Amino acid sequence: MPSLSALVEPDRVHRTVYTDPAIFDAEMAHIFEKVWVYCGHESQVPNAGDYWTLQIGRQPMVMVRDRDRSIRVLYNRCPHRGVQLCGNQKGNTGSAFVCSYHAWTFHLDGRVRAIPLMKAYDGTRLTPDNPDCSMKPAARVDSYRGFVFASLSAEGPSLPDFLGDARVAFDDMCDRSPVGEVEAVPVCHRVIQQSNWKFFMENQLDSLHPSVTHQSTGVPARRIENRLKAEAGQAPLFFHYLSAFASSFDQWDSVQTVNLPRGHGVLKAYMGLRPTDPDTAAYEALMRQAYGAEKAEQFLSRSIHHVLVYPYLSVQSPLQQLRCLRPLAPDRTLSEIWHFRLKGVPEAIYRRSLWYFNLVNSPATMINADDLENFWKCQQGLSSDGGDWVSFHRHHGRDIARGDMIETAPGMGTSEAPMRNQMKAWAELMARA
Ligand code: FES
Ligand SMILES: [Fe+2]
Repeated sequence: MPSLSALVEPDRVHRTVYTDPAIFDAEMAHIFEKVWVYCGHESQVPNAGDYWTLQIGRQPMVMVRDRDRSIRVLYNRCPHRGVQLCGNQKGNTGSAFVCSYHAWTFHLDGRVRAIPLMKAYDGTRLTPDNPDCSMKPAARVDSYRGFVFASLSAEGPSLPDFLGDARVAFDDMCDRSPVGEVEAVPVCHRVIQQSNWKFFMENQLDSLHPSVTHQSTGVPARRIENRLKAEAGQAPLFFHYLSAFASSFDQWDSVQTVNLPRGHGVLKAYMGLRPTDPDTAAYEALMRQAYGAEKAEQFLSRSIHHVLVYPYLSVQSPLQQLRCLRPLAPDRTLSEIWHFRLKGVPEAIYRRSLWYFNLVNSPATMINADDLENFWKCQQGLSSDGGDWVSFHRHHGRDIARGDMIETAPGMGTSEAPMRNQMKAWAELMARA
């Protein structure tokens, strides 16, 4: 593998970080299998025995609710001869995992429960108290406001330290509920992107691209939105979800990104999400009742479009959306697309989230489909000999450092600061390896 300093410079990155299989393997071993990785929301596993399978780096894992109500994250592998214990994406395994091959059984915390015909092991080194008889747990499991994470490394920062100021992703989502909680809507769309995972992460804070890439959706949506407003005085909020993509370059330059340590980042708000319809009025009244006027206003007016938890998560907290990447190969990335319900709010407020999920994030979207095509074409271009470097020069040298944060300067919201910040974090993580 080439040296890191030959790959990542402050204003440009070598194309092989997107294409090289050896670099991808190193990323899996030294980034994804070390940092805290999002597993799922606790509401996905409400009852003892409920489980979801997932991938952390190259490792097949299972998140399961134990009988003591705690959530465990275990390697999805039988210690006998290696069979995956949960073959389905989700389900309920009852009071134990039972292997489909020779029926070894395991408690929900992974400890071996029974091995059939155990006498046959007498005198061998396989005794039931041998940890090699049990499912291996993730080194660390923790959660933040109901969102469960695991790290396959015993070393490294705690979950709150890893998340840092990106914790606002989960605070902002939960604080918008009058009871401070959300629950996952258990419809997870899964899309395989034929491209490297970094394109998605970079694109999330790339506010230069929407008015180009999403023009074909944004412009017609704005035309219809304006017509409805002229005819009926107002247009449904979901037209705004699409028309906002067609904002001018000047408008995008006015939207700031905040770039945090460890590659995390925030795109500040650019959509108006507080209409004055009766549903919104009822919802905001509930919020004031729950938190008092001042705090409710603070919760409802945070300037966030979405928050990135590097290197794999995009949380669009004001509309309760979450997308999680599970890289599969240098040119293949699984994305899990979720949305959430705010607990204790009228159904109409949930439907906003559902509209956004379907119109912008789902596989049927008119927005993300155009992004995916760009990512695929990036992968093709960077696999060629047409050039060695990817440029991140836009407004380089003009960003504003505030403590350990880097903000885009006023009127320079389309700075490529987020890409520079992400690749800096990438190089730090890879260097530690
Ligand atoms: S492989 Fe699981 S019991 Fe044999
Ligand atoms: Fe986009």
